[in-house]
Amino acid sequence: MKVQKAAVVGAGTMGAGIAQVLSASGIEVLLKDINQEFVDRGIANIKRMYDSRVKKGTLTQTEADYLFANVKGTTEYNGFEDVDLVIEAALETMQIKRQVFQELDRLCPPHAILASNTSALSISEIAACTKRPEKVLGMHFFNPAQFMKLVEVIPGVKTSRQTTDTALQLCRDLHKVPVRVEECPGFLVNRLLFPYLNEALYVLAEGNATPEEIDRAAVEFGLPMGPLTLFDMTGIDVCAHVTEYLYGEYGARFHPSPVLKLMIEKKFFGQKSEKGFFVHQKGTIPAKGAKQELNPELPALLEQARKDFAPPKNVKPFDAYRLILPMFNEALYAIQEQVAEANDVDIAMQWGCGLSRGLVSLAEEKGLDWCLNELEAQQAIHGERFRPAWILRKLVRGGIHDFKALTNEPVAAR
Ligand SMILES: NC(=O)c1ccc[n+]([C@@H]2O[C@H](COP(=O)([O-])OP(=O)(O)OC[C@H]3O[C@@H](n4cnc5c(N)ncnc54)[C@H](O)[C@@H]3O)[C@@H](O)[C@H]2O)c1
Repeated sequence: MKVQKAAVVGAGTMGAGIAQVLSASGIEVLLKDINQEFVDRGIANIKRMYDSRVKKGTLTQTEADYLFANVKGTTEYNGFEDVDLVIEAALETMQIKRQVFQELDRLCPPHAILASNTSALSISEIAACTKRPEKVLGMHFFNPAQFMKLVEVIPGVKTSRQTTDTALQLCRDLHKVPVRVEECPGFLVNRLLFPYLNEALYVLAEGNATPEEIDRAAVEFGLPMGPLTLFDMTGIDVCAHVTEYLYGEYGARFHPSPVLKLMIEKKFFGQKSEKGFFVHQKGTIPAKGAKQELNPELPALLEQARKDFAPPKNVKPFDAYRLILPMFNEALYAIQEQVAEANDVDIAMQWGCGLSRGLVSLAEEKGLDWCLNELEAQQAIHGERFRPAWILRKLVRGGIHDFKALTNEPVAAR
């Protein structure tokens, strides 16, 4: 099916960005929110996105006007009776998603695909409240949706192959980079990112490296910013919520660092509260690579964390692999669970996290036997957070050092 008319439910940060992307590919888009003020704000944001493209010279004014005219704001479901696709980007609660999907199921034509941009909720559960679960799936765009290339396409238990293929093709038509991810907590990118973020906080609590050293190591390794800067930008409260959720789902590998709880108690949420790991001025975003001022209350907080958690005494000198290995190991868990293909892990981490080199291919360069030895050594010191995925042992025992060698073979039994 070729998508010619679409709707986006929720005209906030993500909804406006997604509607702009659809409209820029010549698709007619209805943008719905609960009141006119929110619709107008969303439409004004889309106008700004087009204006900035004209300013940059990537569109002429005539082209921008023509494409912008594809978007129509609405507070009602009028016009939904002939859409081919709806992408829901309303608030992140199951109650709201269920209510929206029940309405969409009732009002949209039988052939329409209903997608959710949820970051974490169960696609299968959302689909189950409709009479067309085979036509429901996740399309997880990243923020800002108009710039970020990656879209995680997530089928639920009942999603048909045809629905998934249509969504994957649509993403390509939108000039995005889609990866198919089987439904699991955190999907792919967040599932891999959080062990890395959490490990940075363990290093801090140990006093094994300063915040600047931690961030610098990550940037030198190939990430666009350090983990502590990312915490501050994303919101430490949001990150704490996600970490607790993933810990609840996956257990010991995601055991939250004690630093996180203390940061929340002190209301150090990052940029939004003007204090996180660094100090921030309201409304300003630090320039890339600019020196940041440390939160002066951080040393006392870390002292407290050390008392609460008694770090291991024999830790190895800090380097970037202390942070990257938990991310790589989680990628292997995802691969062995058939959540994603090895090649797609690299694509997702490049386009979703800005990692300048593929994660899996990087580990292959270092040697899978080296990765296994290092994980085992860190597991002996730090425990379950570093327990190697069994597929790594299997590959090393089998003398296989290249995931591409497995391309036409199942990585684990399906
Ligand atoms: N912000 C991000 O970085 C990000 C990234 C990826 C995915 N997401 C997910 O995208 C979704 C939207 O996030 P956001 O950051 O754009 O939120 P937001 O708060 O900026 O926007 C949500 C909008 O949905 C509207 N809304 C609420 N209930 C509605 C309903 N019943 N019908 C129509 N509109 C309704 C709200 O009025 C609001 O304008 C969430 O599920 C979120 O988890 C967010």
